[in-house]
Amino acid sequence: MLDHLNPADPGFARDPYPYYARLRAQGPAARVPLTNGTHAWLVTGYDQARAVLSDPRFSNVPPQGAGRPGPDSPARRARGCLARHMLNSDAPDHTRLRRLTTAAFTPRRVDALRPRIEHLADGLVTELAGELDRHGTADLVDAFAFPLPVLVIGEVLGVPEADRADLREWTYRVGSPADALEPGAVDEAWTRLHAYFTQLIGHKRESPGDDLFSTLVHDASEGGLDDGELLAMAFLLLFAGYETTMNLLASATLMLLTHEEELDAARRGGPGRWAAVVEETLRHGSPLEGTTWRRTTERVDLGGGAVIPAEDSVLVVLAAANRDPGHFPAPDDFQPARYLPEGRRAAPHLAFGHGSHFCLGSRLGRLEAAVALPRLFDALPGLALAADPAELPYRPGLLVRGPRRVPVRRR
Ligand code: HEM
Repeated sequence: MLDHLNPADPGFARDPYPYYARLRAQGPAARVPLTNGTHAWLVTGYDQARAVLSDPRFSNVPPQGAGRPGPDSPARRARGCLARHMLNSDAPDHTRLRRLTTAAFTPRRVDALRPRIEHLADGLVTELAGELDRHGTADLVDAFAFPLPVLVIGEVLGVPEADRADLREWTYRVGSPADALEPGAVDEAWTRLHAYFTQLIGHKRESPGDDLFSTLVHDASEGGLDDGELLAMAFLLLFAGYETTMNLLASATLMLLTHEEELDAARRGGPGRWAAVVEETLRHGSPLEGTTWRRTTERVDLGGGAVIPAEDSVLVVLAAANRDPGHFPAPDDFQPARYLPEGRRAAPHLAFGHGSHFCLGSRLGRLEAAVALPRLFDALPGLALAADPAELPYRPGLLVRGPRRVPVRRR
């Protein structure tokens, strides 16, 4: 009999891997009782994760009436907008929405962001250095891993520099638990973000810039996207782009600060070695712990005795698939060398998902980390962890994974 799964448990949040290993040993998918009285099927094996993510019998469309009930309010309506994005849709809607976004996110356009990302990363490192001088310690998540992806999404969306501080503040609030801030602060941030994005779309339509979002707004008008779909797209780019990359940066810095030999190797090894650090952090740290929820459209037999009835909830646990010992020897060890081009390269990790919903921002996420990490560690050569790594709190829940704080000091 399986234990109940309580994603809010701090011990589980810090180290869910022994639990996932037990599930994996049971077969292709395990029916897990949740503490809220419901159940879900968790897919933890690498091969099964790929199979499910490329099988159209697993739908991304949330069931009718999903979401918490509550009185109508501007904040609720703002949140509701998010529901119409491509991650919540299946073909043919998904194909239509995705085609437009792919056209705006070409490799050339993403790569052209490099100098801006360098500039933004340098600015944050300078602020961080100042904070260390003044206070002796600083939190790398607050000062670096969180703001950088938000500022970069600001570039993607073409948010004027003068508005970036607002964007950063609202994003911070909507990503915080409601009880961590003063009453109403989270709702107010949702409402402000909604109003801001609505205005931004109107502005890009009238006077497009050379940002990716202007291209999207223009193509959307040609391709029949309505304003609601475009608004959902702006929200999706913000949320899909910042929490994931934030966790990638937070986990990578924590790994390097606790594996000094790897930090030295990256410093000596140049871009190829840094790229390997990024890939191994994606595998080992899995910034998205699980994909979004899927739902079976019919009864699915996954083999090995796992028969999922129609209309059941399924979660593909990327963090578990990325540590499947059948594909990654010593899966719990942090070994960037697995991803060096000259080595026997490890299997591709699933941190960006698989199949039709494969991450649209993978190139941008990788670029941000590849730019930011060497700049941080070059500018602050004596950086050291200012806490016991075993005590650091992790984000609760099954969706995102990463340390909530990475306190640092100068050596
Ligand atoms: C390290 C950073 C990132 C990680 C680990 C990551 C991971 C993922 C994963 C696993 C999915 C698939 C989810 C599912 O199948 O349910 C996904 C989808 C998506 N990601 Fe990312 N992501 C990252 C960065 C970004 C960035 C920077 C952007 C955009 C600026 C972005 C935009 C998207 C979008 C739009 C989708 C939906 C694609 C679709 O439904 O077809 N991501 N991401």
